[in-house]
Amino acid sequence: MYKLKVVKDAHQVLQDLFESAEDKADVLKSKELGKLLAGIKEQPKETIAQYGKEVNVLKQEFVKKVKQWQADQSYEEKPSIDVTAPFDFNQNSQPETLGSAAGSMHPVTSAQKEMVDLFARMGFASIESRQLDSQYYMFDSLNFPDDHPARDHYDTFLLEEKDDKNRPLVAPSHTSTMQIRLLKKYKDNLKNGEPIAFVVPGRVFRNEDLDARHEHTFHQLEGIYVAEGVTTANLVATLKEWMSGYFKKEVEIKTQPFYFPFTEPSLEFAISCPFCGKAGCKVCGEGWLELGGCGMIHPNVLKEAGIDPKKYSGFAWGFGTERMVMIRYGIEDVRHFMGGKLEFLRQLK
Ligand code: DAH
Repeated sequence: MYKLKVVKDAHQVLQDLFESAEDKADVLKSKELGKLLAGIKEQPKETIAQYGKEVNVLKQEFVKKVKQWQADQSYEEKPSIDVTAPFDFNQNSQPETLGSAAGSMHPVTSAQKEMVDLFARMGFASIESRQLDSQYYMFDSLNFPDDHPARDHYDTFLLEEKDDKNRPLVAPSHTSTMQIRLLKKYKDNLKNGEPIAFVVPGRVFRNEDLDARHEHTFHQLEGIYVAEGVTTANLVATLKEWMSGYFKKEVEIKTQPFYFPFTEPSLEFAISCPFCGKAGCKVCGEGWLELGGCGMIHPNVLKEAGIDPKKYSGFAWGFGTERMVMIRYGIEDVRHFMGGKLEFLRQLK
């Protein structure tokens, strides 16, 4: 290809350089090529044209080789694309994912836990109430006469599904639904000289007009205690002991007559304000906080469970879980609990 020996030799030298160089472009900057090009003007007239032409052809040959090598360099193999992936995993950075900050128990859940623990220390076992129930457990078993207006106070949500008497199932509006279940299941305790002592935390539902004090979904804590010779004095003492524990302050209990079909006598109870000690403050108004209902379990309820009311007696109570938490922490609106706002929930972690 090259007629001139000097160019032929130079070709071989440049080729060796090209092959051994890490950066192939070095060949174009090499002193060998430089010398060859500089040699053009030193050529005698006879060979200058031939020499010039051959050196240029030689140079172009390596320019081309270098370009080809550079093009090959910039082509790296890319991993194949998974078109079903939710993000482009060929990107170096990972997509941003949800923060991993740990959550915490809902304030109602932690309150329930604390309340149940406190009762456990007083000898009460616990069981959660149901969130769907039959009208038997909601009303009949609790001595609500058929069509009695007291049923209206417990207005709740009805399902399309029916119970075995063809009445709609209900989203229960109190935790008392568990009373007859517990009395029936544990009545043998009594024969063995042991009491039936249970608390029932649970979620309840009411058809309410919502405001700062009324929510359609809330929680109650129910309790029952049955043994021989139980009186209202035991009821009051139990509530006093527990309330003093919960509010970490010795409180008094005040009761007044009320009506529940499942207790006789039926009472409403209040505690002396743990913040002002009955002096009157913005939490209690006039020194007392009304908390819930209670009473001596009605003989008809004991009979329904197969317990002899002449031999055994017992008391029961129910109060609102949210209300207790609201009093303790000065929360002004019950709707915060089901509202799901993190600003609220984080304050009660
Ligand atoms: N179930 C009643 C309510 O939701 C509260 C209650 C009152 C429960 C008296 C009891 C009780 O166990 O003895 O209004």
